[in-house]
Amino acid sequence: MCEGDRAATLVAMKFSARTTELIDSPIGAAFAMLDHRVNDRPLLDLSQAAPGYSPAPVVADRIVEAAREPITSRYTPAAGLDELRQEFATDLRHSYASSTITATDVTITAGCNQAFCATINALAEPGDSILLATPFYFNHEMWLQAEGIDIRYLGCTADLHPDLEEASTLIDSTTRAIVLVSPGNPTGVTIPVEVIADFAELAARHDIALVLDETYRTFRPTDAPAHAVFDNPDWRSTLISLHSFSKDLAIPGYRVGAIVSGANHQREALKILDCVAISAPRIGQEAAITGLRHASGWRREQAQRIARLQDHFVAMMARAPGGFELVTSGAYFGWVRSNDQRSTDETVRRLIVELDTLVIPGTAFMPTDDGMLRFSFANLTPAEIDELGHRLETY
Ligand SMILES: Cc1ncc(COP(=O)(O)O)c(C=O)c1O
Repeated sequence: MCEGDRAATLVAMKFSARTTELIDSPIGAAFAMLDHRVNDRPLLDLSQAAPGYSPAPVVADRIVEAAREPITSRYTPAAGLDELRQEFATDLRHSYASSTITATDVTITAGCNQAFCATINALAEPGDSILLATPFYFNHEMWLQAEGIDIRYLGCTADLHPDLEEASTLIDSTTRAIVLVSPGNPTGVTIPVEVIADFAELAARHDIALVLDETYRTFRPTDAPAHAVFDNPDWRSTLISLHSFSKDLAIPGYRVGAIVSGANHQREALKILDCVAISAPRIGQEAAITGLRHASGWRREQAQRIARLQDHFVAMMARAPGGFELVTSGAYFGWVRSNDQRSTDETVRRLIVELDTLVIPGTAFMPTDDGMLRFSFANLTPAEIDELGHRLETY
């Protein structure tokens, strides 16, 4: 075979339409525009929702120590280390003031994204439908598309809460689940306890799952339980609650998350997890155990520090610099409306290229272009938030 034939063979490979039709990662797409910047000043990076700060010293020390232990290089049990499942169940019982959650309800995953993927694969197959509350977390939409699931976009109320009435009209015999995220990414909106209760009731009435991604639970403006669904003794028949240690313990690269669900769902999800990663990394699980046991004060301090940053951000945005209007804010995020009449992609390009300010277009989180932007302020300093205001004013 000559060189030309070999090249022809390489390009002849075919790809799945389910992946070729997906968007590229919105974070990667935003970073790709950095090469076109025309100024020489520091970048304000509001793109990532991952903590840029280091984990608690006690967690970092445990990681160093664990790395030297021979067992750390081995797989763990498929559902995770027993100590972690126990510690997390204790943490959840405390946070939700609910005695019903046990270690056997907890499945440890390699991050909350994997928790979502395994959860969906356990519930639905191509052609089934799932209700996805908008604005949605982009990886949720991408996974549902990759799996050939019929996505039913669920609108929201004026408060940006998922619309219950609309949900009941979207459910039919093909529907397997409703997906909610609270606090939301990109809006930061915490869904009220009563609204979550209504959705849990709706799901139970139709024998479908309520999948609740609670990645930003610690970053709510209150310590009160995020919802009361765990108080229902039958919660395992339709609730699936997803969690991440990435934000709480600032260990996104160690890949630890969790599914909290009943035995039937857990059994199906474990089949997928076994194929994908066999087990979550042991070193990340060790880090999470130490974080849950010894870093609760640190966790609270980080959440309080980010809440103070949010106050600073909200105060700065109150004057709508450059016509950018803050619609909602919470967790790590500001959900911002631009009054630029051009497309959102063009606004984002200008913010990056001319204002050295990296944000994510709202089109990554919605099926329509409504001129929205996600500003992830949690990795900025107060001085950088002031600088952001000055730059936006020059837009
Ligand atoms: C709503 C939501 N779910 C899940 C994830 C992924 O978390 P993990 O790092 O645990 O996979 C993120 C990360 O940004 C998120 O915003």
